[in-house]
Amino acid sequence: MPKTTIDTIKTWKNRDEAFVCLTAYTTPMAHSLAPHVDLLLVGDSMGTTIYGMDNTTTVSINMMIAHGAAVICGVEQYVAAGANKGEVRDGVPVIVDMSYGTYEHSVEDALKNAQRIMDETGAQGVKLEGGVDMQAQISALTKAGIPVMGHIGLQPQSVIKEGGYKIKGKDEQGLAQLIEDAKAVEAAGAFSVVIEGTIAESARAITDNITIPTIGIGASSYCDGQVLVSEDMLGMLHGHQPKFVTEYAHLRDTIDTSVARFSEDVRARNFPREENLYRVKKKA
Ligand code: KIV
Repeated sequence: MPKTTIDTIKTWKNRDEAFVCLTAYTTPMAHSLAPHVDLLLVGDSMGTTIYGMDNTTTVSINMMIAHGAAVICGVEQYVAAGANKGEVRDGVPVIVDMSYGTYEHSVEDALKNAQRIMDETGAQGVKLEGGVDMQAQISALTKAGIPVMGHIGLQPQSVIKEGGYKIKGKDEQGLAQLIEDAKAVEAAGAFSVVIEGTIAESARAITDNITIPTIGIGASSYCDGQVLVSEDMLGMLHGHQPKFVTEYAHLRDTIDTSVARFSEDVRARNFPREENLYRVKKKA
C-alpha cells in the first residue's frame, strides 16, 4: 500500500479510487486497521460507541488525548512488528477530534487545545465541526501549522442545539448553506472535510464545488473518501444501526460464542489447559 501523508490526502481529489478512513480508539484496533486504511480518525464518537454516553457532548479533551496516544502507539507497533520481521511498513496519519467546548468559544481556546492534542498524542492533525462559524478557528490552526480536517453537514456535537440528528442539504437553501460551509473550511486551509448525513446529490455538489477532498459518512460514494466507525462496520455493537452502515462482520456474535465456549471450559475445569501452565522443567 502506498504511504499516505496529510499532503497525499490533500491532493486525493476526483480520483477513480476513493480513500479509506476508519475510526480507532485503542492500540490493538489501530494496529489491526493500519495495514488497510489511508487515514485513522480518533473520533469523539468514542463517547457513544465505547463509553455508553448519550451523545458526544460529554467527551472531554483528556479522553481524546488518552485515546489519541493509544492509537498512535498502535500504528507504531504495526510498523515495529514489520521491522522485526524484516518488512518495511508505512505508518498511517492519525487525526484526533477536538471535543465539544474546546474550540467553539474562541480562537485562543482552539489554538491552545489543538496544540495540546498535537503535543500530547503525536497525531498528524485535528478535526473540528463547523463551517462558516468555525472559519476563524480553522484559519488560526492552519496558520499555526496544525493540519485541520473540517466536518460539515450533520454535526453530532450540535445534537442538543438542533434537537436531534437531522439530515442536511434536503432543499436548495440547505445545499447553499452546505456549499458556503465547505468553501469556508477550504478557504481557512483545511486539508479535507468530512460531510456527514446529507442527501447524496448534495454531497456530490459539495465535492464538485471545492478543491479539497471530501470524506463521506452517510453522504454517498460521490465523496473522495469514506469514513465509518469501525465498531459499526465490524458489527460489534448492539442495538439500532444507522442506514449508512454496512456490517462487514458480526463480531458481537463471535464474542458471544467465544465467551460461551470459554465459560463452559472454565466451569468444566477444562481451562487452563496443560499448555497454559507453568511447571518446573525436569533436569535430564
Ligand atoms: O466522531 C467520529 O467518529 C466522527 C466520524 C464518524 C466522522 O466524527
